Order: sequence, then C-alpha cells, then structure tokens
Amino acid sequence: MQDPVTKIDLKCLSAADIPAFLDLYEKLDDIKKPFLKPRSAEDLLSHLEAGMPLMGVYRNDILAAGALLTYPDPEYAAHTRHLEGYPLTPETAALQGVVSTEKGLFTTLVAFAKDLAATRGYSTLLAKVHDQNEGARSAFDKRGFQVFLTALDPQGGYKAHFFRAVTGGGATDAAVPLPQPAVGPLPPVPDLPGNLCQTEEPRPGW
Ligand SMILES: CC(C)(COP(=O)(O)OP(=O)(O)OC[C@H]1O[C@@H](n2cnc3c(N)ncnc32)[C@H](O)[C@@H]1OP(=O)(O)O)[C@@H](O)C(=O)NCCC(=O)NCCS
Repeated sequence: MQDPVTKIDLKCLSAADIPAFLDLYEKLDDIKKPFLKPRSAEDLLSHLEAGMPLMGVYRNDILAAGALLTYPDPEYAAHTRHLEGYPLTPETAALQGVVSTEKGLFTTLVAFAKDLAATRGYSTLLAKVHDQNEGARSAFDKRGFQVFLTALDPQGGYKAHFFRAVTGGGATDAAVPLPQPAVGPLPPVPDLPGNLCQTEEPRPGW
C-alpha cells in the first residue's frame, strides 16, 4: 500500500481561515483550553484588518496549528487591548494564542513568527505564559525564549511569565532593559475556576 502523502502548508491566514482557526481552539482538550484567551471571529477579523498576521499550519488541508502576531500599534488601540499588561517597547511584537495539535508545529510557528516580526522591524518577540502552563513554559524555554518578567496578569489576575527572544531583525533593543514589576513578592495567585485567561463574557459562538 502506498504511503499517504503529507502536505504541510505554513502561511499567513486570511479571513477565509477564521472558522478553521476557531475550530482549532475548540478542539483543544479541557486541560489546555483554559490557558488561552478565547477568540471570536470579530477579534480575528479586526486583527487581520489591523494588518497583523494570523499564522497557521495546514496539514493535509486541516489547520493543525496557529498563532497571532500582535504589535503595539496605537492606530489600532481597540484591537491592541489584547496587549494590555504586556511590557512592550516599540521594538517588540507579541506572539499570542499559540496552539499546536502536532508535535513540532510550535517550533515551526515560532520560527515563522520571528521572521515575520523581524521583517516588520521588530527586534524582540514576547510571549505571556500562565504559571500553571508547564508545557508551554517548557516549549518556549526550549526554543530560545527567556523569562524576563513574572507578574500578575492585570486582566486575569493569574501569575504570568513573560518570555522574550530576539528575532534577528529590527532595531537592536535586546540590550535595553524592559520595564520591571513595580511590586515586590507576588500576592497569592487565586485558584480561578473555568477559563483562567478569560476576562470577557463569552461571546456568541463560544
Ligand atoms: C505548548 C504547545 C504550543 C507546544 O506545541 P508542540 O508543537 O507540541 O511543541 P514542539 O513539539 O514544537 O516542542 C518544542 C519543545 O518543547 C517541548 N515541549 C512541548 N510540549 C511540552 C510539554 N507539554 N511538556 C514539556 N515539554 C514540552 C518539546 O519536547 C520540544 O523540546 P525538545 O526538542 O527538547 O523535545 C502545545 O502543547 C499547545 O498547543 N498547548 C495548548 C495551548 C497553549 O498552552 N499555548 C500556549 C499559550 S501561551
């Protein structure tokens, strides 16, 4: 019997891919889902309309991994509310909402995100990871990211680790210290039920 041919397609997604992206989130198991901020079709559309990349990896025409690359662009303040609490500088872009359903695709997406950020002039890529999300913490750690700040997430109230990595492009601000938390030891982290990152009422369709 012939081996099935695997077709891998890594690309920037368009509005037509939004249903597949939402499905990808839906398919996550109940342990992983709480670590992601829910996204709606409107959110993703406004992300694309702001000119920011929505990345995805299709495997045999099924979206198997995806993520958002978000910039601190004041022109799109309504959209960049998703960056509230991020210690951003003008040279940083944030990798958000990474989901991978197949081993290795996180690595693929990170490399792609670094390239995209670099070509758009961003020298640093940031990611925020929930303290209890040990899998993602380990994955970022193993792919060249370092924690530079641990702080309470202002929206979710959970302990978050901010990772950063250099992209290889943009201005070289990696040596510039990023804002540090103004507080000392963190207060106890509440054991939140349900969606740990969710700060908004679920929208229709969720
Ligand atoms: C975390 C996640 C993105 C990892 O995706 P992935 O495609 O399996 O990651 P990769 O295979 O590219 O792994 C990269 C490295 O991280 C390691 N890694 C990945 N998941 C891990 C886990 N759960 N525990 C420990 N290490 C892990 C891999 O072993 C690999 O290291 P290695 O080369 O030394 O073996 C994926 O499990 C996921 O979608 N989780 C749910 C959503 C989520 O939490 N996203 C992050 C939000 S901040």
